[in-house]
Amino acid sequence: EKERTLAMIKPDGLLGNYTDDIKKTIIRSGFSIVREMMIQLDEEKAKLFYTEHSAKSFFPDLVRYMTSGPVLLMVLEKYNAISDWRSLIGPTDAKQAKISHPSSIRAMCGSSTERNCVHGSDSRLSAAREISFFFKDIFPGVFIYIH
Ligand code: CMP
Repeated sequence: EKERTLAMIKPDGLLGNYTDDIKKTIIRSGFSIVREMMIQLDEEKAKLFYTEHSAKSFFPDLVRYMTSGPVLLMVLEKYNAISDWRSLIGPTDAKQAKISHPSSIRAMCGSSTERNCVHGSDSRLSAAREISFFFKDIFPGVFIYIH
């Protein structure tokens, strides 16, 4: 089924000049980029986006990292976009990715469990939430899936 997912290039990905290589990989893998927006997250928005991690010990660090520079948001579309994008980016721990998934995006541009350079929605429900979180003015009400 044709799906949309939220992809994000995090501050380390942008600062490290990985944007072009990441986009080439996206296009080569058959995704279309249907929306794109560069933003600077403030503390409030970063905390809200990662609210499910708010009780974790790494949360303050995560918020600091995600607000340390701009991020590039993309809505990707393709058959099976959600799980295919997650496969393409590789495991959360970028150090592990370099060993176990050397051709993944996180192996290319990430450096640790925290600084893993890209994000991908992990389910239909989070794709719907995350796309409307950032793009609700553009796609009003389109991504409400009823299970
Ligand atoms: P992501 O999967 O995009 O969303 C949650 C983020 O929290 C994750 O990427 C990492 O950037 C960060 N993260 C997850 N687990 C840890 C951890 N154990 N230590 C530090 N950061 C983490």
